[in-house]
Amino acid sequence: MAKCLGCGREFATEQVVLLGQTFPAERYCDVCREGEIVEDEQRQADIRWTRVRVPSAYDGCTFETFEPVPDTRNALAVCKQWAKELRAGTDLRQGLLLRGNPGAGKTHLAVAILREIIWSDQRKTALFLNVPAWLNALRESYGDGEPPPNPSGYDLVVLDDLGAEDWSSWARDRIYNLVNQREQQRSLVIVTTNHEWPDLAGRVGGPTASRLRRLAREVHVDARDDFRARDAA
Ligand SMILES: Nc1ncnc2c1ncn2[C@@H]1O[C@H](COP(=O)(O)OP(=O)(O)O)[C@@H](O)[C@H]1O
Ligand SMILES: [Mg+2]
Repeated sequence: MAKCLGCGREFATEQVVLLGQTFPAERYCDVCREGEIVEDEQRQADIRWTRVRVPSAYDGCTFETFEPVPDTRNALAVCKQWAKELRAGTDLRQGLLLRGNPGAGKTHLAVAILREIIWSDQRKTALFLNVPAWLNALRESYGDGEPPPNPSGYDLVVLDDLGAEDWSSWARDRIYNLVNQREQQRSLVIVTTNHEWPDLAGRVGGPTASRLRRLAREVHVDARDDFRARDAA
C-alpha cells in the first residue's frame, strides 16, 4: 500500500527495493493517473486548436450549437456527414463550397467541421484563413508586418469569405496560387462565400473558379433569417 501524492488516499501498489530501501512502485493512484492522461489529452487538443487560428469570435461554433432551422438543415447534415467520413479515414476527393446569404451560418458550419476534425484526430492539421484578412496581412508583410500563415502542407484549409476581398490582379494571383497548390497537393479545402458561380468567377478569375468547382462540392446555406441580425435583436 502507499499514500497517493495526488489525492492522499491509500492505494495498492507493489514495492520496489532500490539501494536497500523500499519504495512504492507508483506514487499516484489509478484515478489520479487516469485524470492526468485526460488532462494531458485536453491540453494537447487545445494546442492543436490554437494552431488552426480560428478567430475567438467563433469559439462557440460547433455542430451542437447550430440550430437545425429548416432552411439550413440539409447543409448541416451534409457538413456533419463530410466530417464523419474524414474522421473515418475515407479518401475524400472533394471539399465543400458553402454558399449562401450573409449570416446564414456558413462560417459557423466550417468552424464546426474544423473543431470536429481537430478534436478527434491528432494527426490531422488544419488552417482557417479569412481571405480578405489573409490578403491584407500578406500585403502588409511586404513592409515590415508579420507574414500570415502559409497554407501549404495542411490537410485541410478553410477559405472564409472568398470574393469579399478588394479585387486586384495581385489578389487574384495570390488566390490562384493558393487554390492551384491545394489541387496539386490533392489536399482539402472548404470555401465559404456569398457569391454565385458567375459572380465568383468574375472576382477570383475563371481558372480559379473552375478549379474550385472540381475541388469542392457546392452546398447551399441559405437562410431567410440572418442570425447576426437575430443575435443583435
Ligand atoms: N443555425 C444556426 N444556429 C445557431 N447559430 C447560428 C446559426 N446560423 C448562424 N448562427 C450564428 O449567427 C452568426 C452569423 O453566422 P455566420 O456563420 O458567421 O454566417 P455567414 O458566415 O453565413 O455569414 C454566428 O454567430 C453564428 O454562430
Ligand atoms: Mg462568414
